Amino acid sequence: MTARVYRKTMKIGLCGFGVVGQGVWKHLNQRRRELDKRLGVSLEIARIAVRDPAKERKLPLPRKLVTTDPFSIAVDPEIPIVCELMGGTDVAREITLTALRAGKIVVTANKALLSEFGPEIFEAARTGGGHILFEASVGGGIPIIKALREGLVANRFRLIYGILNGTCNYILTRMENEDLNYTDVLADAKRLGYAEADESLDVDGWDSAHKASILAFLAHGTWVRLEDIGVDGIRRISPSDFAFARSFGLRIKLLSVIARNFESNDLSVSVRPMLLPERLVLANVNEVYNGICVAGDVVGTTLYIGRGAGQDATASAVIGDLADAALVLLGGKSPLLPDDAPSIVSGEEDRLRITLPENQESRFYLRLTVKDASGVLARVSASMASNRVSIASVLQSESDLPDCASLILTTHRTNEKAIQDTANDLKAMSVVVEDPVLLQIAEFED
Ligand SMILES: NC(=O)c1ccc[n+]([C@@H]2O[C@H](COP(=O)([O-])OP(=O)(O)OC[C@H]3O[C@@H](n4cnc5c(N)ncnc54)[C@H](OP(=O)(O)O)[C@@H]3O)[C@@H](O)[C@H]2O)c1
Repeated sequence: MTARVYRKTMKIGLCGFGVVGQGVWKHLNQRRRELDKRLGVSLEIARIAVRDPAKERKLPLPRKLVTTDPFSIAVDPEIPIVCELMGGTDVAREITLTALRAGKIVVTANKALLSEFGPEIFEAARTGGGHILFEASVGGGIPIIKALREGLVANRFRLIYGILNGTCNYILTRMENEDLNYTDVLADAKRLGYAEADESLDVDGWDSAHKASILAFLAHGTWVRLEDIGVDGIRRISPSDFAFARSFGLRIKLLSVIARNFESNDLSVSVRPMLLPERLVLANVNEVYNGICVAGDVVGTTLYIGRGAGQDATASAVIGDLADAALVLLGGKSPLLPDDAPSIVSGEEDRLRITLPENQESRFYLRLTVKDASGVLARVSASMASNRVSIASVLQSESDLPDCASLILTTHRTNEKAIQDTANDLKAMSVVVEDPVLLQIAEFED
């Protein structure tokens, strides 16, 4: 019996044959027959752009498809689908804009690109008649973009929060389970390929911020600039923070929070290490996994968990977009653009106020390393009182530093600005010998 031959072929230009590009090549070839059958059209990778064709790779580079000029793919009239898997925001931006302005479909996994140049990219898609698909940009293999854009289209989103960075989650999980310090786990994560040589984008919270801004755009139709996101990372978390958390039934996770107040029409986005009760499902999302909790006003709370990065999970999301791209080209429905999402009442986005989360109230945890001398606690308390921060509990223990003590304070509900001001005041005191560690105590229900 001969295999059915699909007359229509959709050509894809793959810009990038690195971790994700090779995953897409591998899985697209492995699933070719099933995909062709389901789509009624054959997806064919027709060109591949790399920087260095001579580089050694896990998968052999299909030589006859290779170019070192990704622009030749972006402008090739025979290629309607451009899959941007190069990373970076320079060449990737140019390729994406060129392809969209030519009316093509661009599939990308590049969260930094979308977060930093989202308005320009979506405008190019609108004016050029192209489409941008970006499932792999947030949550790796979790189809969170499709869920927000399509499945949850009836909803308005008061709260979206989640673990969006697998590297940080891996580091925090190992610190917690094995009582290790940050530096040792980071070194291990680098050795195992879970962290980049330059870890700062991940551990300082910026990768999570990029992803959070994409989710905020999908849910609320507006791009929140990175400078308007409150971002803090995980570098200063220590085993003593985990010891405290453990004794109170809490876990520490780096959480991205997108909070919309529909009464005041405020939107705030933050990325912070937080303490959260261990009974919550998200508190138990460990290792490199991501977890995202979406509270919709119609559906209620929904939760998504899966591998947040890596070759296979990311390729799964990219291939999902490639299949959608083929369906669009076959005359199917265009993907819902966030501007068309019903969560945005016409004109409302003009009035939406992007606020730093400083007006929000919460309980906080504050760890101070102080000189072990009399009167220190009184000075700390006075500083908190002058900022109207009310102390709920104080624990004092030994510090690793000589002649120092560790003070762990928790507060009653207070607004974030007050506690930030307190932390800054304390940092300036001569008796406080290290920068304070400040963690929000999350009060999520689900
Ligand atoms: N890795 C993950 O788990 C993951 C997960 C989610 C999203 N992403 C995103 O996916 C994208 C790709 O990540 P990756 O991990 O696959 O990166 P990668 O392994 O570094 O691969 C990048 C590829 O792009 C090629 N390239 C870069 N600049 C180029 C240029 N100017 N011209 C031609 N080719 C160029 C490189 O060529 P050479 O091979 O010749 O150097 C390489 O093949 C990034 O935006 C990343 O943020 C990655």
